Amino acid sequence: MSENTENQATETAGTKYPYEVHDYDVVVVGAGGAGLRATLGMAEQGLRTACVTKVFPTRSHTVAAQGGIAASLSNMGPDSWQWHMYDTVKGSDWLGDTDAMEYLAREAPKAVYELEHYGVPFSRTEEGKIYQRPFGGHTTEFGEGPPVQRTCAAADRTGHAILHTLYGQSLKNNAEFFIEYFALDLIITDGKCTGVVCWKLDDGTMHVFNAKMVVLATGGYGRAYFSATSAHTCTGDGGGMVARAGLPLQDMEFVQFHPTGIYGSGCLITEGARGEGGYLTNSEGERFMERYAPTYKDLASRDVVSRCMTIEIREGRGVGGDKDHIFLNLMHLDPATLAERLPGISESAKIFAGVDVTREPIPVLPTVHYNMGGIPTNYWGEVLNPTEKNPDAVFPGLMAVGEAGCASVHGANRLGSNSLIDLVVFGRAAAIKAGEVVDRDSAVPATNKPAVEKILDRFDSIRYANGGTPTAQLRGEMQRTMQADAAVFRTDKTLAEGVEKMKEIAAKLDDLHVTDHGLIWNTDLMETLELTNLMPNAMATIVAAEARKESRGAHAHEDYPDRHDEEWRKHSLAWVDGNNVTLAYRPVHLEPLTKETEGGIDLKKIAPKKRVY
Ligand code: FUM
Repeated sequence: MSENTENQATETAGTKYPYEVHDYDVVVVGAGGAGLRATLGMAEQGLRTACVTKVFPTRSHTVAAQGGIAASLSNMGPDSWQWHMYDTVKGSDWLGDTDAMEYLAREAPKAVYELEHYGVPFSRTEEGKIYQRPFGGHTTEFGEGPPVQRTCAAADRTGHAILHTLYGQSLKNNAEFFIEYFALDLIITDGKCTGVVCWKLDDGTMHVFNAKMVVLATGGYGRAYFSATSAHTCTGDGGGMVARAGLPLQDMEFVQFHPTGIYGSGCLITEGARGEGGYLTNSEGERFMERYAPTYKDLASRDVVSRCMTIEIREGRGVGGDKDHIFLNLMHLDPATLAERLPGISESAKIFAGVDVTREPIPVLPTVHYNMGGIPTNYWGEVLNPTEKNPDAVFPGLMAVGEAGCASVHGANRLGSNSLIDLVVFGRAAAIKAGEVVDRDSAVPATNKPAVEKILDRFDSIRYANGGTPTAQLRGEMQRTMQADAAVFRTDKTLAEGVEKMKEIAAKLDDLHVTDHGLIWNTDLMETLELTNLMPNAMATIVAAEARKESRGAHAHEDYPDRHDEEWRKHSLAWVDGNNVTLAYRPVHLEPLTKETEGGIDLKKIAPKKRVY
């Protein structure tokens, strides 16, 4: 573990709580793919960079990413960044920001070749090129041609390979890691972020990180739901901190259900399994996706496939004793392909479903997988503090990248393998921007002692919370409510009931009971702090979902089955204060970065139309 000792000093004089102070140009919170790519990019430019993380870097949730990373390398056939952009726009159901989606698709090949040069052990073609597989919603010829093989893979352990490589490179470039430090809150000084306060989990000490730039790379909030492919650490810590700082969250109503979570455990079976030729069947043995998506079938986009599976189950064609799930078939695939391309999921199916994939189908169910919404940013990762006058106003000193942020490239629905590319493209973009805006010669902001004291007061009050509601009980109430009322399909009734239930549940944060008051490895306290982060994310999700009276991407509203661009092609913004949520909206960016006459995409190609696969 590389830990900085140079910049430490215990600061006690004139303060209520002892804490150590660390000064950096940049502090990155989180060490998943986006956090590490940002950390590496900052450190490479000579910015004094700290990365604070609540788990060991290579245990961050990116390690679980399986199928791959999208980039139009054309290794397996013709492809172009314009096709990738078109698929992303269509996948987003026309809610993504055009400039950000162009940036993603154009920069993706560069970002992947950089990963290759850093040492990511990609799978290879016969000619030694990076192997690419088909993934849902990725097509050729602006959606008119056959599926494209665009998803660059390291077997089915692509996230693992990327994370280990980026961690090694960050260490090599002298980034300093503060491992198993839990970020409590942002330090805000005169309308600017000037640092973050952390609790060191293994010895109970408090740490103030003063910085010229703070980058939130804290991941998603999948654990607001009962069943998720996300790790238990995915508790929306960045969103929680941002909400407490009085800043909004964006597009939170859009929660992705991955079609193939293992029934019962929620463990991910990569979409790469369908990319390699797997298919779904119902209780009649029918390949039902052919009926719903005649062209792309099992490789339609995720929201579409998850809805079709849910309809099959609802209409009585689910499999199993309770007819409540679907089968994923891989038995027809060559065992050598399974061993080479899908070894990880073959093992997961055995462990979590007792299934030998060469002989039996895997029982699967749509499972919460990804949050399209998050902390609003521009495509450089700078956090926005939108006002009516200036919807793109930047909040100084603060960036957000990865699943924590909302750039917004995924809009209402993310395409599979556009997540890993989002992590590295925007982690890299944040570093490029920080290289321009962070003045290496200026002084690091001084410790804002009153702000730090307020943060530690809050920590103390949670530590000694002595109400009547155990953390695990309240978390369970939240998770079950979100699972039932903000699901694959939503109605006015379920959403209105969900909002009322969630308001009552969020109010109980004031009645929590923390049994262990210790400061060293106190998991009761840590889970309580995490719950206080999950809750604002969950509140924003259900309130924004209740307000959006249309269907778009992952927000499938049964009372409003169509998309309504005139009224609803806009980003929701949610300010959360306790159990109170205030909503506003900001326009979607329609302008590309590059004009067509200068090599940009033909805007007619990405004009809104009916979304069919
Ligand atoms: O299915 C998967 O391998 C997941 C990939 C993703 O969410 O991008």
